[in-house]
Amino acid sequence: MKNLPIKIVSTGRYAPDNVMTNDDFSKILDTNDEWITTRTGIKRRHIAQGETAIDMAYKAALKAVENKNYDKEKIDLIIVASITSPVKTPSIANLIQAKLGLNHKNIVAFDINAACSGFVYAVEIAASMISSGNYKSALVIGSEHMSSIIDWEDRSTAILFGDAAGAAIIEVSDNPKDNAYFWNGSRGDDTGILWIDPKVKMAGREVYKFAVDIMPKAIHKVLEKAGLTIDDIDYIIPHQANYRIIQSVAKDMNLPIERFLMNLEEYGNTSAASIPFLLDEHKTNNPEVKRVLFVGFGGGFTWGAAILNV
Ligand code: COA
Repeated sequence: MKNLPIKIVSTGRYAPDNVMTNDDFSKILDTNDEWITTRTGIKRRHIAQGETAIDMAYKAALKAVENKNYDKEKIDLIIVASITSPVKTPSIANLIQAKLGLNHKNIVAFDINAACSGFVYAVEIAASMISSGNYKSALVIGSEHMSSIIDWEDRSTAILFGDAAGAAIIEVSDNPKDNAYFWNGSRGDDTGILWIDPKVKMAGREVYKFAVDIMPKAIHKVLEKAGLTIDDIDYIIPHQANYRIIQSVAKDMNLPIERFLMNLEEYGNTSAASIPFLLDEHKTNNPEVKRVLFVGFGGGFTWGAAILNV
């Protein structure tokens, strides 16, 4: 596949103010801070109250527009990755178009479902569409209201997830140094290892095994496609599922854990929102960051890895 010269020109994020700690969980479930912290690294998660994945997507999108004083009239493509929309149609993307006041424009807007890998998939779709020359500016969002699909009585899954949204605005670039590379994929699993119908059900150990196997593979594959080594990457932004998974990937690759950005202690696993949220958080503090590597995995199974400039 040909290279895709694109650039993330602005980012934004949103998480609800309401925080639920591990101690809060120990009041409603047979669990405790020590178990959750040592098994996952998660201490807190933000839980929406009265807000949906649509509201959070809009707030993150607005931040991405405002952060760089971006001319929103340029946006002609909106893609939202989410598995938690409260409605089947219109898509969240359609509603963001309306909320941003862009209904007068001929915009292509749709949602995708690739679970926790959704944002990386959506970036590849946006990159392909804008590289075709038919679109100039893509607003790509990951937004998840995970607390709406959690089984609040299942201690092995309820403690893992949080609510948030992250957004990125992507433009085509004429600088060959801005080539983006992807290694996204899937392996259909019909055995119910990770299933949401209507609530989350998961065989945690099986998912763990899958994650620690696929993440280093995906990193190596996307580096190989790009003709780069890990030293060419400023930061790795992994999906925020579990500290131990990320630690295992770092060990497997013989890399210091500091090369992997993390915020799961504060937000837990926010599915498709985790990578764009962390990207924006990091960009805010380190505007000079140039080349990042995204790597994620999720239900499906799906996985996604991307190298691009921000
Ligand atoms: N508090 C206390 N004990 C708990 C618990 C909780 N919140 N959740 C599960 N346990 C118990 C189990 O009941 C089990 O008890 P038992 O031995 O008496 O049967 C014990 O802890 C071990 O459970 P297990 O599921 O084997 O633990 P684990 O070490 O595999 O850790 C996960 C569980 C979920 C943290 C881990 O498997 C994981 O992170 N998997 C990946 C999940 C993931 O990333 N999903 C998202 C994909 S995008």
